[in-house]
Amino acid sequence: MDDKTVGDRLAAWAREFDPHLEALLSESPQVSERLSEAMRYSALLPGKRVRPYLVTEVGSLLGAAPADTRPAALAIECVHAFSLIHDDLPAMDDDDLRRGKPTNHKVFGEGMAVLAGDGLLALAFEVLATQARSPQVAAGWVAELAEATGRQGIIGGQAADLQGETQPLDAELVGRIHRSKTARLIQSACRLGAIAAGASAEDYRAVSDYGLQVGLAFQMADDLLDATSNSEALGKQTAKDTDSGKQTYVRALGVERARDLVRDKLDLALEALARFGARADNLRDLARFVVERDH
Ligand code: IPE
Ligand code: IPE
Ligand code: MG
Ligand code: MG
Ligand code: MG
Repeated sequence: MDDKTVGDRLAAWAREFDPHLEALLSESPQVSERLSEAMRYSALLPGKRVRPYLVTEVGSLLGAAPADTRPAALAIECVHAFSLIHDDLPAMDDDDLRRGKPTNHKVFGEGMAVLAGDGLLALAFEVLATQARSPQVAAGWVAELAEATGRQGIIGGQAADLQGETQPLDAELVGRIHRSKTARLIQSACRLGAIAAGASAEDYRAVSDYGLQVGLAFQMADDLLDATSNSEALGKQTAKDTDSGKQTYVRALGVERARDLVRDKLDLALEALARFGARADNLRDLARFVVERDH
C-alpha cells in the first residue's frame, strides 16, 4: 500500500479512466450536436467515479483485466450521470449546482436535460451489448444493470424518494429508499466486475454483500453531508433534504444515530470481504473512504 490517501488514489484512477469516457462520448453525434454536448457536459464533469472504480477493482480481485471490465465501468458511470441529471430536474430535487457547476437543465434547458439523461441511459446498454468480451458476459451485464436501474433499482427508489416527501418520517422507509435508489447501483458495480471475471457463486455473493453495505453507507453519508457540509466542499447545494421533506436517517433519528448506522454498515461491508484476505485491501479502503469522505 502506498502512502497516498485513498481519496488521492481514487482521483488518480479517475484521471486514467476519464479519457475513455471522453472517447466514448466523442463518437460522432450525427443527429443533434446539442444533445451530445449536454450528455458530455454532465458525464465528464469531475465526479468521484466510485462506481466504475468498483467495477474495475472487483474485476481485478477476481481475475479480470481492466480491458475486460472497462465497458461495464463506462456503462455504469453513464447510468449514474443519467440519474444525476434527472435527479436535479425541477420536477425532482430542483437543484442548480452539480459537480461544482450549473446543473444540466440550467445550461441546456429542461427538455434537453431529460433527453441527455435518456441518451446516457441508452448508451450504457449499447456499450454493454457491443463491447463485452463474449455474448455470455454481455447478457449477464445487461440483465444485471437493467435490474439495478429499473423498478427495483434507481428508478423505483427515486419514485419512492419523491413519494416520501409527503409521507411521515419513517426509518424503515429510509432504508428501503436508500437500498433501491443508491445501494443497488453500487452493488451492481461489484456484480458487473464479478460477471466479467466469471466469478464463483461464493465470490459473487461476497462482493454483492459488500456492495450493498457500501451502497447503504454511501447514501447515509450523502445525507449526513447534506446536513453538515457546505456547497463549496460538495459542489452541490446543501441543507436541501430538510427543506424538501426527504426521508433520511438524519431527519428521522438525528445526526449522531445516523453516524452510528454508517459505522455499522462499514463493519458489515468489511466482514463481507473476509474470504479474500489482504487482496481486498483496496476495496476495504474504498469502503472507509465512502464513510469518511468530505465530498
Ligand atoms: C451522488 O453520487 C448521488 C448519490 C447517489 C448520493 P456521487 O456522490 O457518487 O456523485 P459524483 O459522481 O461524485 O458527482
Ligand atoms: C441520490 O440522492 C440520487 C440518485 C439516486 C441519483 P440525492 O438526491 O440525495 O443525491 P444528491 O444529494 O442530489 O447528489
Ligand atoms: Mg434526490
Ligand atoms: Mg438530489
Ligand atoms: Mg443528497
